[in-house]
Amino acid sequence: MEYNKHINILAETLFELLSEALGLQPDHLSSMGCNKGCSIVSHYYPPCPEPELTLGLRKHADAGIMALLLQNHVNGLQVLHDDQWFDVHPARGGLVVNIGDLLQILSNDKFKSVKHRVTANRVGPRISVGCFFSGHADMLEEPFGTMKELISETNPPRYKEFVLKEYIDKVLSSPIDSKPAIDYYKL
Ligand code: OGA
Ligand code: NI
Repeated sequence: MEYNKHINILAETLFELLSEALGLQPDHLSSMGCNKGCSIVSHYYPPCPEPELTLGLRKHADAGIMALLLQNHVNGLQVLHDDQWFDVHPARGGLVVNIGDLLQILSNDKFKSVKHRVTANRVGPRISVGCFFSGHADMLEEPFGTMKELISETNPPRYKEFVLKEYIDKVLSSPIDSKPAIDYYKL
């Protein structure tokens, strides 16, 4: 409970910085409800005798708004950049901040979600705790799309509007390696 409290404070600060980076008022993303709907998911990756035969977690981008990830000292997390996988070495006391697909949509691709995966390891266990922000429950029934403030003639929307609840249903009902929900809404 204590960790969750601190994560929420950190998220609020990060959403302020992200709002400012988009040229908006610092409280913009939080006042929309982006800093709400935090779910905590822990992963336990046991040591694997044949790590070349499997993965800890398959390639994906986080579907929500933002994820804050705490990892123990065991390597495994990798991000995809220019078709190459790079290790994200755990930094003691550090958290990984992941932009999710919904923030990519809100920002009209100014912020990009990143594809990542977790390899299997001979050593372990690897333990991670992810805090996933998917937004205030009030956002579920509302139309969702790129923020109006960012749209202009030179920056037309790159996504169709949709209802967030449908998007989340798609995410929860499809396997991790199927077509990402964001792809259904690209213009
Ligand atoms: C996830 C994720 C990474 C990890 O749960 O979406 O990417 O290190 N986890 O467990
Ligand atoms: Ni992830």
